[in-house]
Amino acid sequence: MSKEIENHRVLNRSANEPFSSILEKHVSRRSIMQGGLGVAAMSVLGGFGLAGCSDSDDGGEAQAGELPEKTALALAFESIAGSMTDAVVVPEGYTAQVLIPWGTPLNNMAPDWSADRTMTSEIQANSVGMQHDGMYHFPLSEAEASSDFLLALNNEYIDQSALWAPQGGATNADSGARPADEVRTEINAHGVTIVRVQKQSNGTWTHVPNSPYNRRFTSATPMELSGPVAGSDYVVTAYSSDGTMTRGTNNNCASGYTPWGTYLTCEENWPEVFVKDSGREMDDDRLDIPTGRGRYGWETAAGAAGETQNEFSRFNATPSGATAADDYRNEPRTFGYIVEIDPYTNTRAVKRTALGRFRHEGCWPGKLVEGEPVVFYSGHDSRNEYIYKFVSDALWDPADANQAGGNYDRLAIGAKYMDQGTLYVAKFNADGTGQWLPLTPDATTQDGQRLSTALGLASDDLAGIIIHTCDAADLMGATPMDRPEWGAVDPVSGEVYMTLTNNSQRTEAGTAPTYTNSGSDIDELGVGYATAPVNGPNPRPDNEGGQVIRWREPSPDETTFEWEVFVFGAAATDSNNLSGLTELNQFASPDGLWYDDRGDGQGILWIETDNGYDGVANYTNDQLLAVVPSSVSLAEGDAAVIDASDQAQLKRFAVGPNGCEVTGIFATPDKTALFINIQHPGNWPADPNANVQDATTVTSGDVRPRASTVVIQKADGGQIGV
Ligand code: FEO
Ligand code: CA
Ligand code: CA
Ligand code: CA
Repeated sequence: MSKEIENHRVLNRSANEPFSSILEKHVSRRSIMQGGLGVAAMSVLGGFGLAGCSDSDDGGEAQAGELPEKTALALAFESIAGSMTDAVVVPEGYTAQVLIPWGTPLNNMAPDWSADRTMTSEIQANSVGMQHDGMYHFPLSEAEASSDFLLALNNEYIDQSALWAPQGGATNADSGARPADEVRTEINAHGVTIVRVQKQSNGTWTHVPNSPYNRRFTSATPMELSGPVAGSDYVVTAYSSDGTMTRGTNNNCASGYTPWGTYLTCEENWPEVFVKDSGREMDDDRLDIPTGRGRYGWETAAGAAGETQNEFSRFNATPSGATAADDYRNEPRTFGYIVEIDPYTNTRAVKRTALGRFRHEGCWPGKLVEGEPVVFYSGHDSRNEYIYKFVSDALWDPADANQAGGNYDRLAIGAKYMDQGTLYVAKFNADGTGQWLPLTPDATTQDGQRLSTALGLASDDLAGIIIHTCDAADLMGATPMDRPEWGAVDPVSGEVYMTLTNNSQRTEAGTAPTYTNSGSDIDELGVGYATAPVNGPNPRPDNEGGQVIRWREPSPDETTFEWEVFVFGAAATDSNNLSGLTELNQFASPDGLWYDDRGDGQGILWIETDNGYDGVANYTNDQLLAVVPSSVSLAEGDAAVIDASDQAQLKRFAVGPNGCEVTGIFATPDKTALFINIQHPGNWPADPNANVQDATTVTSGDVRPRASTVVIQKADGGQIGV
């Protein structure tokens, strides 16, 4: 079928290798997807077929029926050197400013920030939360979409030393009962911030204090459960005897958004805020709910004077009452979901349980096609966990697309597309193909059982499958991955990119896997891989560099796909530097990812890092890199799309301050402002008292660190990166 494509269009207008030839190689190195390759190849061509061929245009005229000629998208900045300072570094000609750092007041309920601020639960509930992570933008009007919008921002976790700096640290951080107000304050520093931001006439950005849109969702905010788990016995608690409500969202890592204008916030490392000392069930062990003491000991404030509605005791899931409606044994089962928020209205957040329950990194919509299902991709960021895809029952109706700023029921549209559908988990074959395995009660496991039966559930118990998503995925034969983090979708071709950040528990080929709960009485049931030998998309043992993979599907609801490694992280001097990285683009532990849909479908892939690997960390702090995917291609025999010959295409664009992770990313629709987040900086921003300031100023002395959004712009006001 690839020949048919070659014959239809003359693509080669340059001395570059023709895309048709690249596609031929791409096709020949793996078995052909049954019945789907033609469509997949067409979508690839539609996505960036012309791009690789037009950067040294030879003047060829487009023939009737051909795609119009396009200007090649090229990165027009010099890759910057690594940096290890208390400052953000950007290329020459760019500016970077701090915007909405932790503690910025959202309204008059909170006094302005000062470096000696003693944070209280009340102030924190009315200020920007801590440790910025995923984020997205929501326009209030199409006309001003690039200068005035709602920013939805995850506040993933807390830094107790910074939070409690004026008093020298948290009280009873590791043992003894935590004081009630400290716990409330910490709970309020987590969650999501919604804040209106505007570009001012002088080109800098500010937030809008007291905007009626400004809002916090914390780890105590009442939220609805929706989808298969809602109303089931699995989520009955003393707070919600009918299993339809819970409180709070925790450890919201990467984000997502929907085509109908809502924000998706994703619950990642939430299990550790709970404890469960007895009455443990299979999912408690699979997701590793702690015993003894939770991450911050919130449960130890139980019974404190003034505790209302079991606000602290709910973090202890040890059964204490006669039934589930008398205690919080099921409280952890109300976490682990994709949470939908309408940033435009004052509605409750909704946990969309149909998208599975695990340590969700993020959630990304697939290519949107009228009359086809809506697809969301997500990953479970733990060692040897899986990649998932949700396919809606409802078919996409463009009438449901977001109306900027409109006040109407977007969550009803969310219910239409996200409450009924099929959750799949990915199996990657060594030959570059893969399958999406359904997680439905009637699915057939690897050893021929009905999935519901294999899990010990009633035959039609979809809620039970969702509660036990990870065990269901084990039983179906999913491929254990090197910690899936962010995804990004090319909106034209539909190709999906996903970061696999690293995996210290990946073992050599031929080694036997070991199991998380080996030796327990639930050992028969999947129970996850503690270690797993290398496999196709995860080919390096003790993987410190991480990789970005890419896959494509013939259509949104297809259950087969083709995959390849896009780029391997490594230090330039590493022996397993499979992408041939140099000093100017070496990176490790890719994490954040964003597909910037510029250039007539060519696009820019932005890659952010969260690195702990010394090979790279001894050269540079965490960073942001960029590459135009259409400028690189997979050659026969190469381990990844980006190889030694492509080094000029992958460029370092920004470096963060010491101690930080670079995460969260989008650009304004006009591409003149790129927003990123600096999480857990060690000693930054430079002015400890200011909210808005230059992000590139090197801190002198010691400051109370504040995670922050950073806005990167060109000094001349032009588009970022090009
Ligand atoms: Fe919160 Fe997987 O990063
Ligand atoms: Ca992450
Ligand atoms: Ca990470
Ligand atoms: Ca290549």
